[in-house]
Amino acid sequence: MNQYYTIHGGRRLEGTVTISGAKNAAVAIIPAAILAGECCILENLPHIADVQSLKKILEKLGANVEFTRGDCLKIDPTTINTCDATFDEVSSMRASSYLLGAMLGAYGEVELALPGGCVIGARPIDQHIKGMRALGAKVYMDESRNVVRAQASKLKGAEIFFDVVSVGATINVMLAACKAEGQTILQNVAKEPHVVDVANFLNMMGASIKGAGTDVIRIIGRKRLHGCTYAVIPDQIETGTYMIAAAATRGDVVIKNVIPTHMEAISAKLMESGARVIEGDDGREYYLRVTMNDRPRSVNLKTMVYPGFPTDLQQPMMAYLCTASGTSVIQENIFENRFNHVKELRRMGAIVTVSKRIAKVRGVESLRGADISATDLRAGASLIIAALSASGVTTVRNIHYTDRGYEHLEHKFNALGASIERCPL
Ligand code: EPZ
Repeated sequence: MNQYYTIHGGRRLEGTVTISGAKNAAVAIIPAAILAGECCILENLPHIADVQSLKKILEKLGANVEFTRGDCLKIDPTTINTCDATFDEVSSMRASSYLLGAMLGAYGEVELALPGGCVIGARPIDQHIKGMRALGAKVYMDESRNVVRAQASKLKGAEIFFDVVSVGATINVMLAACKAEGQTILQNVAKEPHVVDVANFLNMMGASIKGAGTDVIRIIGRKRLHGCTYAVIPDQIETGTYMIAAAATRGDVVIKNVIPTHMEAISAKLMESGARVIEGDDGREYYLRVTMNDRPRSVNLKTMVYPGFPTDLQQPMMAYLCTASGTSVIQENIFENRFNHVKELRRMGAIVTVSKRIAKVRGVESLRGADISATDLRAGASLIIAALSASGVTTVRNIHYTDRGYEHLEHKFNALGASIERCPL
């Protein structure tokens, strides 16, 4: 059912929020569990639509998948009975591309509907395919059916230098290489926290992966991997979303279940804009406290691969900078089409001009409520932040996008003093 949010803006966010498990780690780790010849139990999984979709995809392949507790998913891949993943659920999400590496590693073949996901650029998978071919797989693109077919009687370790730094290609090839004979060396890889999390999960399953989090990953293939219990890391992007929302509403928010080192690029930009960001340790866990009392100062930012400023927070950050004093320049270096939120922000009174990959945001005193629509997941987060800081009432439509990646969004914000109501159409 299509739903929308009604948001009464202008309320200062105050209090404590707890971050959920990382979406982009979870959506890779769930398919990765196929590689274990046994049951895996995944903990700290976020309750989001993308996790539900992957559960359904694995079930359609024959796996037994069940939530054993709120945030715990038990995956038994031993009952998988088909390598045909050409159904609709697969083509509707980006992370289903991880079935390429996982199924190839586990069964030596897969037929996969080409993955969809947020429309933020062309999002090719040429580097995934290059990696699989280097490992010895035969990969065919059937463009008429929008399907990719891969098959390998035996995967063999190889040296692969990626042409672009890609989260998806790094993880996908890592999955297949875990089962390849001999050593694989991946160069120019992504270093995002979720890449490291997937490698840690695979190592817990008995894989031999070294160097995740650096530019070079070395993998010694194993014939067999085994089941394990693994807890997914906290979500870097959800953390950043609450940090930015706290600053945007001139709030004071303590954010728990975080890894502060993952947040350095965001903390630095918020502090540059005048916010106070404190890292703390309450003896049990780390937390971040973001406090903002004044109008922010404009800042310039460029999205970069980790540890740079993440593209996934460019859109939320823009909403914040819409009310800064001065003009901020935002350069989007990762995706060529990630400014779809701009026209919606303009409806709220924002002054933003876009030329190719550069947006100039001339700060206004305040935004005003409007009827606006999300066009993708982080565009949705951006519009919600804008609405929380705006005067008046905002309707945010297409919230199925934010449901894909944010657990209990309105409950978490409302506990901080926001007024967000989910309404049916
Ligand atoms: C992942 O997408 C995330 N998705 C994205 O998060 C995130 O924005 C992105 O990484 C960058 O951090 C998941 O983890 C499920 P890429 P992915 O491959 O893997 C080009 C969100 O909002 N490229 O790192 O698809 C590509 O076009 C989502 O949570 C190739 O040219 O991103 C892009 O310009 C959206 N060929 C750049 O690399 C390839 O074969 C980085 O893309 C692959 C990618």
